[in-house]
Amino acid sequence: MTRDFSLDLDALRGFLHLVSVCVWVGGQIVVAGLIPLLRKADRSAAPVPEGEMSITQRAAHRFGRISWPFFALAIITGLWSLGEIVANDEWAASEGSWKTLFFVKIALVAASGVGAWLHGRAQRAPERALFASVASLTALAALLIAAGFHQSIPA
Ligand code: HEM
Repeated sequence: MTRDFSLDLDALRGFLHLVSVCVWVGGQIVVAGLIPLLRKADRSAAPVPEGEMSITQRAAHRFGRISWPFFALAIITGLWSLGEIVANDEWAASEGSWKTLFFVKIALVAASGVGAWLHGRAQRAPERALFASVASLTALAALLIAAGFHQSIPA
């Protein structure tokens, strides 16, 4: 196998897909790590007036405004890649295991989106924690599967 470099449209597509999944997956990990600090800031802040959001809620809200557009970008660039694969007749030539795992990845991505949406709507803390775990663990599993995708040149 040889290694090569070219900055072309394929590179742009890959770059946008990777940036979007970095924000979606990495953002969830970073925000989870910041939650204890935000809760601490809430405890030492003045009581929140009725109808207003706490510091933690405002941070979560702001994160949602960043992460959802990147989730949409992951879907758009993923569909773009899939279009290229089909247009180049690579879909038919791909291994059955690749196709199966591609569908598993899509199911995990869907579960991650649904989990994040339910997390944002949950009223009770245990449900919020459960759906946050679903959102991040399924996205990590999708990332792990995608890390195993390889291109090979037929012999
Ligand atoms: C949380 C969401 C997602 C994660 C973590 C993720 C992760 C990844 C990663 C790491 C790669 C490898 C990139 C490379 O080696 O260049 C990849 C490739 C790919 N992804 Fe995603 N992805 C996500 C969403 C999607 C969606 C929604 C679709 C399709 C609708 C999709 C379709 C693809 C395709 C077709 C490739 C292969 C690109 C190629 O080899 O040309 N992905 N994904």
